[in-house]
Order: sequence, then C-alpha cells, then structure tokens
Amino acid sequence: MRVLLIASSAREHAIADALSRSRHHPDIISVCTTANPGIRNLSVSQHVQSIMDFDSVLEIAKKSKPDFAFIGPDDPIGGGLADLLASIGIPSVAPKKTLARIEASKGFARNLLRKHGINASPLFRVYTSMERKDMINFIDHDLKGAFVVKYDALRGGKGVKVSGEHLSSVEEGIQYAKECIRECGSVVLEEKLTGIEFSLLSFVSGTQVVDMPAVQDHKRAYEGDTGPNTGGMGTYTDANHSLPFLSKEDIRQASAINRHVAEALQEECGEPYRGVLYGGFMAVVDGIRVIEYNARLGDPEALNILPLLSSDFVDICQAILQGALTEELVSFEPLATVCKYITPKSYPVSKEQQGQLVTFPEEPEQARIFYGDITQHPDGSLHLGGSRTAGIVGIAPTIAEAEHIAEELCHQVSGPVRFRSDIGTAALIQKRIETMRALRNANK
Ligand code: AMP
Ligand code: GLY
Repeated sequence: MRVLLIASSAREHAIADALSRSRHHPDIISVCTTANPGIRNLSVSQHVQSIMDFDSVLEIAKKSKPDFAFIGPDDPIGGGLADLLASIGIPSVAPKKTLARIEASKGFARNLLRKHGINASPLFRVYTSMERKDMINFIDHDLKGAFVVKYDALRGGKGVKVSGEHLSSVEEGIQYAKECIRECGSVVLEEKLTGIEFSLLSFVSGTQVVDMPAVQDHKRAYEGDTGPNTGGMGTYTDANHSLPFLSKEDIRQASAINRHVAEALQEECGEPYRGVLYGGFMAVVDGIRVIEYNARLGDPEALNILPLLSSDFVDICQAILQGALTEELVSFEPLATVCKYITPKSYPVSKEQQGQLVTFPEEPEQARIFYGDITQHPDGSLHLGGSRTAGIVGIAPTIAEAEHIAEELCHQVSGPVRFRSDIGTAALIQKRIETMRALRNANK
C-alpha cells in the first residue's frame, strides 16, 4: 500500500506517524514545503517543493501511483488539489474544492448554516461591495459596537480582526472591510461573541460522521493569552474526550452541528464530503456557537488527537473514501494530552533565529515530539526555521500529569526558543471553568 502525503507542518508528522502505525504499513511518499526530518524518517521518499505547484504534485502522484492521498494543509485543499488528483484516479482524504469552501470562504460557511437552519451563528452580514452606511448601521445598532471583520478567503489564519482587540474604532473596522473587499471581493461582518473556544473535529464520509476528542487551542503568542495571534501555541484534551469547562450538552450540541453541516454540504454541493471537518466553536452564555469551520485536521489539534488513536488510521482513511465509516472503526485511548509548541524566541514577530541550532531530549514513552519548521544538516544537527519548531505532547491519565510531562521536556530543549508554560496548567484550566460558570450563572 502507498499513501501520498501533502505536508507543511508538524500536523503531517503526526499524520505520517499515525499512518505508519497501521497494520497495512503503507509506504509514504511525502511532498513537503520544508525538509521536515520527522516526516522524512517515516517516508520512502520525500519531495521538498511548493505544495501549491499542482503540476509537479500530479507528476509525483502519476509516478508513485498511491492508493490514496492525504492532504494536510488548507491551501492545497482550498485550491482544489483533491479534484485534480481525482481526475487521475487518485482519491484524497480531503474535500474537493467546492466542499472546501466551508473553510476557504467564511461567507459561504455562514450562508450555508443559515440556509440549512443551523442556528449556531452570531448575527452576521456578508458584503461584496462597500456599503458604508449599512455597515456602520449594522455595527452600531444591531451589534452594539461589538463586532468582528473577516476576510472572506484563506489568509493563513490571520484574516480575522476583532473590535477592542485588533480594531480600536468602527472606522478602523470599516477600513479593514474595504481592504478585504478590494483584495478578495467579499467581507463578513459579525457579532463579537463572549465565551470560551474549543475545537471538535470529526472524520466525515458524506453523512457518516465520527467525532474525535474535543480540544482547546491557545492562539495567542504569550502567557495569559496575550500578544499577537499565532498558528496555535498549544492544546490539550481530557481523558473523557470532553473538556473540563464543557457540559455533556455542550459536546452534544457541537457534535450535532458537525453532523448537520456535513449533511448540508452534501445537499448544497451535490457530492459527499470526504475528509476531516473541523468545527471551531465557542461555548457562550446559552449554548454553543460556530466561530469557523476548517476542512482539515488542526495544527496543533492533530498532535493531541492522533497519538491517542488506538484503531487503525489507514482503515479509517479507506472507510472515509469508500463511504463505510462507522463509530466501531474509530477508537481513542481514554487518556489526556497536553501539547506545547516550541517556537523560535521571536516567533511570530520576526524570524531572527532562523538557521540557529536546536537540540531535543529523547522521547520518553508517555510523550511525542512532532517536528514542524525545522531542517536537519548532513551532520544530523537540527536548525530552526522561522515558524513553529516542534510540538511536544505529554500523554497521561490526567491533564495535570500530561502537562507536567510536556513542560519538563520543553525545558530540556536547548536553543533560542520559547514555549507557553501556562498551557494545560491547573491554574489556567480552573480559570476557564470559572469564566464559564460565571457567564452561565449570570444568565440564570
Ligand atoms: P477564525 O479564523 O474564524 O477562527 O478567527 C480567529 C479568531 O478570531 C478566533 O479564534 C476567535 O478568537 C476570534 N473570533 C472569530 N470570530 C469571532 C466572533 N464572532 N466573536 C468573537 N471572536 C471571534
Ligand atoms: N489550530 C488552529 C488551526 O489548525 O487552524
């Protein structure tokens, strides 16, 4: 068996690792944006090139004749790589371009939910031209000044600006909306919600939907959730596959929304969604709202989730492709995980440490180290890229123990790097629980 893996980060190191554990022992042919040593060690061949050079990816696919492709990152999925691979007879664990609009267009996602009666969105309006008066009226009167402006296309997770955080006045919001329309033709204005974010990812084959453990990501660069947004500085999951600040009803609602969205996508696009559907949710005062959808595994979310997978990942991929996905095929260890990302010291502000040496401790049994933007010199030494370096994952019966394992290992990494010590700590989790309790008690 052969699998073509399209990769850009540590997420795909975790995917390659899960594929390698399969009883099918697939040969992995990887196409990577950088010479990721973690993925290389698990591949029979690694091609380092642009993953948006679809002609070249298709050439590699034609030569290697994989049984299927796994496309990890958003850009090639949003750009329609799954369609091109399908045209030469190679199925992908990733949605086709029309279905991937659930991530690539925030306006499409909001309108889909509205059209299919999925009442989980904040108040929103999509604009394709500058309607300054209407926009100001919507922000001032309907949203009472608490608003979010969303670039309506993929922008590496950096297209969203929130009032009071990135936008200090309505006028700044209007100017950003103008920039969005000029650059991508459309913008979404929506209500700023208050609550706690979490992710619930599901394997999807048409209307067959199987959930993974819920995860909480930490997007801000610095401790205490301060500083600029990043690709994600760390994540945790709990042994019961929920999160300490969520009720059973919260998870039930998020799970039902993912199911409903998979059905809506099939109805809207006339073909089944095959891949991973990633619901970005916020638990708010009276239930669950959708913040965004992604058409792929998350990074770091995949680093927490895939090491817990106790069933066969290749079997799951094949079931997704064949429309034979069942709950029985998917099982996860009842363990907690904490992932902390090691990043260059100046990430995400500058790339000053690029090229500098970094060394890692040995990987103990209850931990995983997944390489991201890192290169290996011929002498075996590892060197920093400009982006996130490696995700270190502690795995244990409780979040506290998993946090301790990850934290200890992070301290043993040497080089000009940093990480967020607070992720997964009892103090931070207690804060989330109390925030949620206060929010919901105020509603009683
Ligand atoms: P997105 O790229 O849609 O995930 O947005 C990036 C971040 O912006 C999210 O993780 C949230 O923290 C924030 N955000 C997006 N939409 C909203 C909203 N309607 N209310 C509050 N925060 C939001
Ligand atoms: N962890 C956020 C993302 O993968 O989009």
